Amino acid sequence: MTFKPPALLHATDRSEKVTVNYELLARQLDALLEDETDLLANSANLVGLLFAEIPRLNWLGIYVLRGSELVLGPFQGKPACVRIPLGQGVCGRAAQRMESLLVADVNEFSGHISCDPASVSELVVPLISAGRVIGVLDVDSPHKRRFSIDDQRGLELVCACFVRLLERQRDDLQNFI
Ligand code: SME
Repeated sequence: MTFKPPALLHATDRSEKVTVNYELLARQLDALLEDETDLLANSANLVGLLFAEIPRLNWLGIYVLRGSELVLGPFQGKPACVRIPLGQGVCGRAAQRMESLLVADVNEFSGHISCDPASVSELVVPLISAGRVIGVLDVDSPHKRRFSIDDQRGLELVCACFVRLLERQRDDLQNFI
């Protein structure tokens, strides 16, 4: 008699499409932040909510723009590089260009700054208030091509919602945490 391994309950196909309801996440964020005015607590809860609800990530966090460098803020994942000069790495470039950067394979991105060697793909969305960058949201995955244009648009929506919520609490968001 030949041995037949049991069928897997959950497929682990690395190319499987992951769909996240970002509009729902934005509404959940609104509910989570609306009664709280502490910007550090609100930033920490943004990060906690997104990391809990978006599958297949190994790191997610905020970098805040201080002068000409990005400084590490609240995050989930392994300890990361603290300071990133504007224009450097995926984060610094997204902040400088004031546009999101979606990297399918970080090994093919010249200048990528490696904090956790497990990170393989990355999505960075700038946080923009009053026409100026105040920081970035950085999301890393251990899977190649983890992020799609839908993830980019979805996280841009959530970040815009986050900034609007903070703007209700403080006019000038430079160095908001
Ligand atoms: N990979 C980023 C650095 C930050 S960590 O991934 C947390 C970059 O190239 O800017």
